[in-house]
Amino acid sequence: MARQDDQARRDELYRDPYPLYARARRAEGLTYVPEFDAWLVARDQDVREVLLRAGDFSSARALLPDVSLSEAALGVLPRGFGPRPTVVSSDGAAHRRHRAPLNRGLSAGRVAALLPYARTCAGELVDGFAADGSAELVEAYARRLPGMVVGRLIGLDPADVPAAVHGGYRAEELLFRPLSPEGQVAAAEDVVALQHLLDGYVRDRRERPRDDMCSTMVAALAPGDAELTLEQRHELVTSLQNLLIAGFLTTSALIGTMLLHLLEDPRRWRLLRADPSLIPAAVEEAVRHDTAIQAFRRTTTRAVTLAGTRLPAGATLLVAYGSANRDEQRYERADEFDVTRPGSRQHLAFGYGPHGCPGSQLARDQLRLTLDLFVRRMPELRLDRDRPRPQMRPTLIHRSPQALYVTW
Ligand code: HEM
Repeated sequence: MARQDDQARRDELYRDPYPLYARARRAEGLTYVPEFDAWLVARDQDVREVLLRAGDFSSARALLPDVSLSEAALGVLPRGFGPRPTVVSSDGAAHRRHRAPLNRGLSAGRVAALLPYARTCAGELVDGFAADGSAELVEAYARRLPGMVVGRLIGLDPADVPAAVHGGYRAEELLFRPLSPEGQVAAAEDVVALQHLLDGYVRDRRERPRDDMCSTMVAALAPGDAELTLEQRHELVTSLQNLLIAGFLTTSALIGTMLLHLLEDPRRWRLLRADPSLIPAAVEEAVRHDTAIQAFRRTTTRAVTLAGTRLPAGATLLVAYGSANRDEQRYERADEFDVTRPGSRQHLAFGYGPHGCPGSQLARDQLRLTLDLFVRRMPELRLDRDRPRPQMRPTLIHRSPQALYVTW
């Protein structure tokens, strides 16, 4: 019972962490938050400092799971691949090694070349429900487009994308949601299936490289053309799984949250509809105001003082991009979603410093093309008031509405 109460409290906090952030920004020094088992870094200036001082604040445990796995689930995972350190969870030279192929594969030119495909996919998704007059947009659109786009980036056959997307959501559930022991086993089996799917691509691209991110990663992380060792396959599959998840769960979440905030006050939607040139600023505001990745962790590598708080080596910090973006010292009316706020890319929704998001342009482009398309195809879009108010999913890593029922 006590455990259920703890979980309920944590879910509540995850659904709306903003009051806690605001208290932490006002408090002296850092605030220790037992629910996070970490020191909360809440102010814009302090978040920037941690992200820049990567030597003092390690990323090795950036993505610590929220739940512990049962013996049974732990017994399933070795049938798959990994875990191995990836770009998000490595530091220094190891991080640069992982990062180099991502920078190449997500260059401005590469992203621009993906956009016609993204636009076609988005248009076809809307064609699928436009005549209905109502839809649930999380399932019908937000959870679909980014998977198709990242699948194309990696080089997945479109027929494999639904399985890859399913596997990505199951990995998130396994590590971040309290499942029953049987639920954990089933999720672990789905994750193993995803890893075998990715391993097939890794081995294929070793033999027949193509112009895709999978081939770029194979060539960079396992140079040469000898048959891949098992260890290389473990590393490549873990890295590809990480890229897949980083690439679509985030963007899907933010498409949902952005649409929610634009529609919950119909004046915002009317503004965009009347003047679509506001779309880039509206996207930037959506990313700042209620971002998908609220926080990642860092661990101190030595004793340090941050914001006046002394921390020993090995201390865990929760670095809250989502709180920094509401810092009143940096933004006027920071809690307000204002589509006319002059679009500034200075927020921290995509991180900062060496681990800053290499996919931010691809994410922004998908958010923009979604609004361009929806304003044009469904100008009368509004929340379905006959449905309960959308509720946020209880998570800090892919914050989004659970469902978004709309009519037009
Ligand atoms: C709205 C969508 C997105 C948001 C809010 C977001 C946010 C972030 C943030 C905050 C980080 C920094 C992590 C840290 O400080 O440790 C990050 C890193 C990363 N993102 Fe994104 N991201 C998004 C979309 C994407 C896309 C579309 C891709 C790729 C296709 C991507 C790939 C990555 C990767 C690989 C990293 C790790 C970089 C590193 O550790 O060096 N993200 N993202």
